[in-house]
Amino acid sequence: MLLKMKKEIKIFAASALLFFSMNEKVVAQDPKVFVIKTNEVKAKVSPSMWGLFFEDINLGADGGLYAELVLNRSFELDVPMMGWKERKDHQAEGNYLILNRGNTNNANRRYIKLESTKGRYGLSNVGFRGMGIRKDMQYDFSVLARQHQGSPASLVIELIGEKGAVIGSGTITPDSQKWKKYTVRLTSSATVDKARLDVLLKDKGVIDLDMISLFPQDTWKKRENGLRSDMVKLLADMKPGFLRFPGGCIVEGRTLDERFQWKKTIGPVENRQMVINRWNTEFKHRPTPDYFQSFGLGFYEYFQLCEDIGAAPLPILNAGMACQFNTAEVVPLELLGPYIQDALDLIEFANGPASSEWGRKRAEMGHPEPFNMTMIGIGNENWGIQYLERLALFTKAIKEKYPDMRIVNSSGTDPVGERFDFLDKSLRSTNADIIDEHYYRNPKWFLENASRYDDYDRKGPKIFAGEYAAQSVNTASPENKNNWLCAMAEAAFMTGLERNADVVEMASYAPLFAHAEGWQWTPDLIWVDNLRSYGTANYHVQKLFSTNRGTDVIPVLSDNKAVSGQDGYYASATIDRATKELILKVVNSSDKKQDGTFRIDGVGKVNGKGTLTVLSSEDLDMVNSFEKPDAIAPVVSQVAIRNKTINLSMNPYSVSVMRVRL
Ligand code: AHR
Repeated sequence: MLLKMKKEIKIFAASALLFFSMNEKVVAQDPKVFVIKTNEVKAKVSPSMWGLFFEDINLGADGGLYAELVLNRSFELDVPMMGWKERKDHQAEGNYLILNRGNTNNANRRYIKLESTKGRYGLSNVGFRGMGIRKDMQYDFSVLARQHQGSPASLVIELIGEKGAVIGSGTITPDSQKWKKYTVRLTSSATVDKARLDVLLKDKGVIDLDMISLFPQDTWKKRENGLRSDMVKLLADMKPGFLRFPGGCIVEGRTLDERFQWKKTIGPVENRQMVINRWNTEFKHRPTPDYFQSFGLGFYEYFQLCEDIGAAPLPILNAGMACQFNTAEVVPLELLGPYIQDALDLIEFANGPASSEWGRKRAEMGHPEPFNMTMIGIGNENWGIQYLERLALFTKAIKEKYPDMRIVNSSGTDPVGERFDFLDKSLRSTNADIIDEHYYRNPKWFLENASRYDDYDRKGPKIFAGEYAAQSVNTASPENKNNWLCAMAEAAFMTGLERNADVVEMASYAPLFAHAEGWQWTPDLIWVDNLRSYGTANYHVQKLFSTNRGTDVIPVLSDNKAVSGQDGYYASATIDRATKELILKVVNSSDKKQDGTFRIDGVGKVNGKGTLTVLSSEDLDMVNSFEKPDAIAPVVSQVAIRNKTINLSMNPYSVSVMRVRL
């Protein structure tokens, strides 16, 4: 009986489907006609149009991109033993002591003294939510150590996998009573996502240890103190036009003392003073007590990363103001000098000759050539008259010394409202170079605001859409998802950015990374755990735009109007002068399959085939995940062009990019 019912249901479903599709055919509308005017260039697309926003949020740097596996390697966290546990063999005995050098070394005050009175005694480190270790891979262990007189001690280093199994080991016998760095390479015999590291005295003895570190050998470009290669690869694959760093609110800090100071992030890593990460305490519902900034990924490494992935560097500096959502402390104007000097020195660090004071520091770190920085941001999400007063002093000093340096100015936290209007008006009156606008809004807002820039002043400051992401529930709600609805809405909005590329010069989704067990803010572009990483649907949208940028914006019109929401369509088009291709981006945000006829105007013959890349899902709630990283992924096929015309049937809720050789 049950079987029979199931069969009947199936037949009903099949005939219903047939009925609906037949019905659809009966009522199907004529294909909408789009005209692409290839000989009416409206704007140049900036090479840095589509870029990246990086902030150490969600374990983005420490515990994420920065490949260090040891948490609290120099015992500088508030709780010096956070991340560490005493570890000893059965019947072994010993003790440890945390020592503080005080002002003799402000950047790295603490170290640990280990003493074994019997057998193997020492410490164990849990890593950032465990350590991701791969079979047959090599890991570089290093430590600063100092022997005590009359007590030559040896260290046993062990990687511990599941059920306490040793999956890699090595030994070190320090040979000096002075601080010295020692290294040993371990090879892992297993893949484990939550391994730990044991550092033990081999037998009776005493030793001082500091900067206990473990890096995978396969960092990006195999660099020492390097970055996680799978994460950098995801960025490099996007061919980003710029990289904004280091944030975000951590630029400001909860207090001014906790602000980001680039000078403290360069030079030997053991001299980079740790600071509590602002996201450690920001959200009561997502506390992260072990979240600090080691600055192992510091300004030199940021510039190097930009160079590696071909992105223009865009550093953002503190404007003399702590986060206005937190303490809102400001520096008195008469004491702003050192902050401004930091900005001037940064320009010299990035661009100055190796003979200059700050250029020399860059050269000493291994990069005598300049990093070619052309933009600098002053302030992240700052607002009010306090910001304008400080910004004016920065601008004067920077422009006096570096007239060609372009300055990114904040327009606050929201794309509308009193704060925004006040800043926008004021910054325009001062002829600001670039205004940074942020939008964390729901998908509807993104769909409804794709025409936002159509009426912007063409002669005014350029716009940097510096942080945006559609929020499926509410801004920064922990329930937000990187679902297809949000990604598709962002794509629709981005056609509006591209159409207005004469005004909008740069755009970046935010935040970039999130660790599955250490995040504070969602949605995020890329999710990682200790071993895996995947791009969200939003990532694929960003990548699709950025790898299909083009050089010149041309109109794509329907009924002689820009395509921005009519019948759920959004479209933009560019020409790529280098490859002589037309690049067309079309979003069908409706729930229907829609047929479109695209007519290419302004060229001779165009026949043949083009490439079509489509992102789509009929399920707007669909997300990518570790289990299904490609649930939403681009599908590439070919389209026929006959007599300068392309007929395309576009899936419901789809983003299509066509490349056609002209
Ligand atoms: O991207 C997360 C946060 O959102 C950034 O730190 C801040 O600039 C914005 O409020």
